Amino acid sequence: MANIAMLGSGFIARFYADSIIGQRSRDTIVSVYSRRDESAKKFADDYKVAFQTTDMEAAIARQDVDVVCISLPNNLHEAAVNLCCKHKKAVICTKPLGRNAEEAKRMLEAVEKAGIFHGYLEDLVYTPKFIKALQSVKDGALGRILWAKSRETHPGPHSEWFWDKEQAGGGCILDLGCHCVEIGRSFIGKDIKPIEVMCWADTQVKPIDAEDHAIGLVKYENGAIGQFEVSWTFRGGLDLRDEVMGSEGTIWLNSFLRTGFDMFTTGKGADYVAEKAESNSGWLFPVGDELNELGYNHMFTDMFNAMEKGTEARETFYDGYVVNAILDAAYKSAASKQWEPVKLDIWRGQEGLSKHKTLTEYNDQYYLVKEEMTHFGARKLILKDKTTGQIIEQTV
Ligand SMILES: NC(=O)c1ccc[n+]([C@@H]2O[C@H](COP(=O)([O-])OP(=O)(O)OC[C@H]3O[C@@H](n4cnc5c(N)ncnc54)[C@H](O)[C@@H]3O)[C@@H](O)[C@H]2O)c1
Repeated sequence: MANIAMLGSGFIARFYADSIIGQRSRDTIVSVYSRRDESAKKFADDYKVAFQTTDMEAAIARQDVDVVCISLPNNLHEAAVNLCCKHKKAVICTKPLGRNAEEAKRMLEAVEKAGIFHGYLEDLVYTPKFIKALQSVKDGALGRILWAKSRETHPGPHSEWFWDKEQAGGGCILDLGCHCVEIGRSFIGKDIKPIEVMCWADTQVKPIDAEDHAIGLVKYENGAIGQFEVSWTFRGGLDLRDEVMGSEGTIWLNSFLRTGFDMFTTGKGADYVAEKAESNSGWLFPVGDELNELGYNHMFTDMFNAMEKGTEARETFYDGYVVNAILDAAYKSAASKQWEPVKLDIWRGQEGLSKHKTLTEYNDQYYLVKEEMTHFGARKLILKDKTTGQIIEQTV
């Protein structure tokens, strides 16, 4: 059982609270900090929180607090982490960990120095579909992973600070790319080193300094490629899709917009449909259980179980730091229009891998390029001569 201090009482704090209180029903939010007294009070009333305050340190330092959950704007994550270190409280922090890798690295070093439990709240690697897909990948159902694409696009975030580059640290690359990069990294292998990034970014629609649309490629040391597609200009709701391609198979995931729940309404009696839905009439695509489908339940279960067992969570501040380092390279690439190296001062995975090469033997003379059954019942083979390099075709 965990006693939690919630920092922030906004959009994500409420999703987290719904999940924490709803899922295990044995964890309790014992204190809440918010910037404004009325928000803290409203949150405390809604979630039956005994202590509310507009003083962040007071919310953290209380004796009954076991773990602090950071649900604050990006520019406040580091200060909150430092207070957790000061008071030796376990800390779990929403995404992105930092506004850049430098901030994230300082946070990682601080929690490790303080010797406190740390978890990175990347919910989208805890969705039921993702967990099942990752298990298939780990069991080898897709063979060698060649490409992992993740897309998160929606019509833009809900609070003013997201749109301010200084407070948010960036635009949709940081806000949404952090999810996509961790999804790609997980499928390719979190111990495989990300090497370099190529990214296009632009501000196509919104009157902001940051980017509102971007596409990026992340190259990994073993030759695999990650891809992210992110946008704050997408119309039609929240689009969360992943595609993984391996030498033996493929997975396509649609986590939110088309989950097999289609509904039509004229709008009479209609209300909330799903996160970032743009309409509540016409054909709609509701989500059965958002807390579960977005991964919050499995995420908190992993975090609190790990805390209780004294093990690491599946996602730690180290993961948050690696994600920030990849996104820093994406920003550099968007500016330079070149592939940019991922600068990782701290790397705890494999080193020195080379691009995997596989040649499928056919016989002493040939490698197999492809085998196919045609519509007229013939088995066709495409073969490459090992000595001459010539490609030939045989119908068997
Ligand atoms: N799926 C996800 O994991 C997910 C989704 C949304 C947001 N987030 C993250 O959660 C964090 C908070 O985002 P949110 O959507 O809840 O934001 P929000 O604006 O809805 O809430 C922010 C909270 O921080 C408090 N706060 C304290 N000082 C503040 C200040 N100086 N300016 C603004 N707010 C201040 C506010 O009182 C408010 O309760 C961000 O880091 C964001 O990236 C994660």
